Amino acid sequence: MKVAVYRKAHFNAAHRLYNKSWSQEKNDKVFGLCNNANWHGHNYELLVKVIGEINPDTGYVIDLKVLKDIIKEEVEERFDHKNLNLDCPEFENLNPSAENIAVVIYDLLRGRLDKCFEIQVRLYETERNFVEYPV
Ligand code: NI
Repeated sequence: MKVAVYRKAHFNAAHRLYNKSWSQEKNDKVFGLCNNANWHGHNYELLVKVIGEINPDTGYVIDLKVLKDIIKEEVEERFDHKNLNLDCPEFENLNPSAENIAVVIYDLLRGRLDKCFEIQVRLYETERNFVEYPV
């Protein structure tokens, strides 16, 4: 019997979307305001879903305190109040779009959580724009 548990988290970060190999004109056309050379920020909301069997000894799928601490260490401490393009090596050669940020976060969490869990990451860049990985 599998159950999904969720943990929400939050971080603020700045970024700029652009493709180094394109002209300024093409970057402006494709990315618009998100290509602002002086950066812009988002209040990112993260939803981490963990699916697993209920442990009969604890009644838990995963101890949410443990999940909270892993998200804090891997995501919040790494990205909160950072410029994703300049401060975070993960995005040195990767456009910090919501899609790419979600995949990076998934990989970081995947590395910390037991293989018996399925995980899924949902990242809100705004209240209305969000992405999910894996699908
Ligand atoms: Ni943006």
